[in-house]
Amino acid sequence: MAAPERQDFIPMLGSIQEARRLTSLEKFFRIGLPDGRELDHRPGQFVQVSVIGAGEAPISISSSPTRGPHLELTIRKMGKVTTALHGLKEGDAVGIRGPFGSSFDIGRFKGKNVLLIAGGLGMAPMRSLIQYVIDTRDLYREVTVAYGTKCPEEILFPEEIESWKQRGGLTVRETVDVGPPSWTGPVGLITTLIPPLDIRPDTIVAIIGPPVMYKFVIGELDRKKVPHGNIAVSLERYMKCGVGKCGHCTIEHLYCCLEGPVFWLNEIEHLKGAL
Ligand SMILES: Cc1cc2nc3c(=O)[nH]c(=O)nc-3n(C[C@H](O)[C@H](O)[C@H](O)COP(=O)(O)OP(=O)(O)OC[C@H]3O[C@@H](n4cnc5c(N)ncnc54)[C@H](O)[C@@H]3O)c2cc1C
Ligand code: FES
Repeated sequence: MAAPERQDFIPMLGSIQEARRLTSLEKFFRIGLPDGRELDHRPGQFVQVSVIGAGEAPISISSSPTRGPHLELTIRKMGKVTTALHGLKEGDAVGIRGPFGSSFDIGRFKGKNVLLIAGGLGMAPMRSLIQYVIDTRDLYREVTVAYGTKCPEEILFPEEIESWKQRGGLTVRETVDVGPPSWTGPVGLITTLIPPLDIRPDTIVAIIGPPVMYKFVIGELDRKKVPHGNIAVSLERYMKCGVGKCGHCTIEHLYCCLEGPVFWLNEIEHLKGAL
């Protein structure tokens, strides 16, 4: 476990370059760091975002490091900090600490079929990984994205998803739990996307979504005989410090902020309360 460094505790002052509404609950932010500094993050990591007078919250990085020095965040309005963040506009300042946590082990994806499964707000961190895979596409075999939301209005980044479909080299499957008559795509839980897929047992899978989703998605992957050592999951835990000091994020002996949020399933499935 690496010792926290001074810059892990002191926020950098970032500037909001773009702020726009994505859905009724989520807002998108592009943030530049001082002097165009790079965050030097990896897909799956998070930052601690602060607003003076409101506090700080852990937020996943939604953009790939291959897309430039800025960082992009997708923030759902939940409580004090995220409500304050939603009130900010272009040019306003935000505190950024990080990047923190583990990332997806891209080295393991190389030369393999890759299946990326996102549920709901899980598309926020998954977008970073998808952009990274698109930008290094030659390194992998078949790449499939499976994305499920409650309803079409909750789909994050619909135009970008359309561009992924158009550009080729990536298969995208989407579903909604409940669709209005105008929705022409599949209706059903995200688990319904998995049985029709041709998944080889050596496929590398990444899953990010609400806690309730994991058990059922993993059940479908078991039917495809994907070993748990090939399945990466990103776990959300209550976090405060982000640097292994406060103990808010522990799962038994694991510190989710340091050793997570991304784990291989076979490393954590035996831990009480992990999934
Ligand atoms: C590693 C990590 C990455 C995250 N990435 C994102 C992201 O990309 N976008 C985003 O919108 N949110 C993300 N979150 C969740 C976000 O940090 C919380 O919603 C945040 O605490 C809200 O702060 P708040 O002050 O606005 O609300 P609070 O007042 O702290 O909480 C509002 C409500 O949310 C609940 N809550 C708070 N934290 C969590 C949590 N971790 N899990 C479940 N419920 C919680 C509280 O119990 C309360 O009911 C992430 C959390 C973690 C740990
Ligand atoms: S958030 Fe403080 S120890 Fe992990």
